[in-house]
Amino acid sequence: MNRRYRKTVIAGNWKMNKTPKEARALVDTLRPLISKAKWCTTVLRVPFVDLSAALKATRATKIAIGAQNMHYENSGPYTGEVSGPMLVEMGVKYVIVGHSERRQYFAETDEIVNKKVLAALECGLRPIVCVGETLQEREQGVTAEQVTKQVKIALQGVQPENIRKVVIAYEPIWAIGTGKTATPEQANEVCTLIRDTIRGLFGARCARSVSILYGGSMNPENAPSLLSLLNIDGGLIGGASLNPDDFKAIVDAANQ
Ligand code: PGA
Repeated sequence: MNRRYRKTVIAGNWKMNKTPKEARALVDTLRPLISKAKWCTTVLRVPFVDLSAALKATRATKIAIGAQNMHYENSGPYTGEVSGPMLVEMGVKYVIVGHSERRQYFAETDEIVNKKVLAALECGLRPIVCVGETLQEREQGVTAEQVTKQVKIALQGVQPENIRKVVIAYEPIWAIGTGKTATPEQANEVCTLIRDTIRGLFGARCARSVSILYGGSMNPENAPSLLSLLNIDGGLIGGASLNPDDFKAIVDAANQ
């Protein structure tokens, strides 16, 4: 973390879990536990149908609510989709773009991710852009090429003055929901590479203002060592964000 230049962000990703009633109960439990998080921004990315309950339950707190996806068009014949302006009007601040599960199961390409990043920024949402390599790509030694390509395409056409509104999450696909975490060295190496890539595209001042998170089986045990690294500015937390005590412990680690 480097709080001098950028925000520390702990972002829970509930994925397809919790009904609106359950969402309300989970936020009610979490709220007092994480209310003292002074130094880190806490975001809960909840299913679309839970947004209303989560927004209500976090009113007058510093907890921000995010969505897990959006369409890149503002409106139109896209049955089943939700647009950025719809989310903004509700009070949503963040949106995940390009999560590996969306890339894998919903055919989201780098080009679609780029359109969504631009659309999110256009309507005032902060995109949390997920990038990361598969196990096969890591074993083939092409992690750097793969992640660099994803970052470059995702950020194509972003105006330099908007780059600080983008959050990047490095999520090695082999570590998501598997209990396998990247070592702090592996995670820091790729997060450093991501910052170097942003520096190459937008310059040093922009690069140091972007929060870069690690995601993939982050938990209360491994969070302190991952978050102690200069180029890891927080975490994207899946499984552990559904457990209030675990999520609190991670927020506490980020708040040190
Ligand atoms: P995990 O999920 O923490 O359960 O590995 C992370 C993510 O998918 O964002």
